[in-house]
Amino acid sequence: MNDAKPDAPENDGKATPVTRRTLLVSLGALGGAGAMYAAMGALGLAPGEQRTNYTPPQPADFALSGRSAAKVVILGAGVAGLACAYELGKAGYDCTVLEAADRVGGRNLTIRGGDTLTETTGERQQATFGEGVYFNAGPARIAQWMVTLDYCRELGVPIEPFINGNASAYIYNTGMTAPVRFGAARADTYGYLSELLAKATSQGALDEAVPEADRQVLLDLLRQFGDLGEKLTYEGSVLRRGEDAPPPLREVLGYNLGPALTYDLTTEQAMPMFQPVGGMDTIVTALADTIGRDRITLSAAVTKITNLPDGVEITHQKGVTRAAYCVAALPPHLMAKIPGNLTPATLTQLRQAIPFSAGKIGLEYGRRWWELEDRIYGGITETDQEIARIWYPSHGFHTQRGLLLGYYNFAEQAESLARLKHPERLEKALTQGERIHGPKYRKDLLAGVSMAWDNRPHIEGAWVIGPGQPMGPDGRVYFAGDWLTHLIAWQAGAFESARQTVTTLHQRALKEG
Ligand code: ALA
Repeated sequence: MNDAKPDAPENDGKATPVTRRTLLVSLGALGGAGAMYAAMGALGLAPGEQRTNYTPPQPADFALSGRSAAKVVILGAGVAGLACAYELGKAGYDCTVLEAADRVGGRNLTIRGGDTLTETTGERQQATFGEGVYFNAGPARIAQWMVTLDYCRELGVPIEPFINGNASAYIYNTGMTAPVRFGAARADTYGYLSELLAKATSQGALDEAVPEADRQVLLDLLRQFGDLGEKLTYEGSVLRRGEDAPPPLREVLGYNLGPALTYDLTTEQAMPMFQPVGGMDTIVTALADTIGRDRITLSAAVTKITNLPDGVEITHQKGVTRAAYCVAALPPHLMAKIPGNLTPATLTQLRQAIPFSAGKIGLEYGRRWWELEDRIYGGITETDQEIARIWYPSHGFHTQRGLLLGYYNFAEQAESLARLKHPERLEKALTQGERIHGPKYRKDLLAGVSMAWDNRPHIEGAWVIGPGQPMGPDGRVYFAGDWLTHLIAWQAGAFESARQTVTTLHQRALKEG
């Protein structure tokens, strides 16, 4: 991906037009694309809602139709593909999953010691993490309303809290002499904003907007919100930031705290959030085990997709698979390049999906200095440096080793790191992290592994900005993926899309076989 990438074209007026710029604005607040779709009301769902009126296909459905469950070939063993096989399997469909990589999960990728990563550029890394240490290189947090948690419950995947914000973490921007604890920065921001608003209220600037009867209520609210003193001025807050006097307003405005203060106000990032115990891939492992590993063919990249009059024929690296139906759960921009006879209209829709960049680095340490010395137990430090943020682990407290996320960045920042070799990415992560945490950030490092999603074979992007609503089928080829829902960049979107696709396919199979 490069900087010259055009905005996504409008799609025939049929779907909500999305530009890359709008998306970046949305992601600036780390809200994800879904927040934008939901806010636009494009799909009639309020933010923080998923369709819950889903009934899985059942064997009994075939009793009335007199048909039997058909053979279905599913392309891609990411969350959407696996969820399709899992749901169709409930009704006895004969599913085969073809996966190009040598492991299941797609972007649901947990890296452990011994794993090897090869990028499309040829860059190769070998993870040397110790026993029990893992790096969620893809999805890493789940909101409580997301259907992903229902799958965890159903599949017996244990979950634990994911700490998505922490007053003890830092804010650090270039030019600051030292990092500031997020709690103190927040107290000062709330304090000064409240003082200014209180001043405006008391001086009559808000007389038109706020009737006299409400002004005292507003002032009381501001007094509490900002922890203001007797004279409605902000002089610091012993309970929120300690005894020290706050820095002047100018310095506090320089924190640029907007994004850090607001991302967890979005329904997608609101705490409490959750993670599976032991790594995010516990979900895809459970799905694959339930589907049956014998139904999943790995290292079987698809080379041709052919719609036949009464079925589909899929040519792949391991042979040719015929089935009554196909669910294509591959990244659309890569699917568009596969030969076959998908219609020009379908190919146009696939090509309109724009890949979006994100990158992460997992840094393993031999001692949990962030707990021992910095007293940070989970949460996120935000910075305006290229690393964008540091995540502290939400599990394994007080154990010996630990892995923190040394960067998680998007768009241009991720694109530029993807162009570097791993040692250069690591060097940047250490140099910028040291500015926040000091020499121990480099000294105590055991190992680092970076993920540049642009360079991940068979995926080539962190997520794609697509129509945000279902598409197809094209003949007997159906489509599934988070990019076809309002929850782009969430496993919840992949699950929701799988449910929609399975429902439509099942209805047709009951009629046509
Ligand atoms: N779902 C992605 C995240 O939480 C965008 O960061």
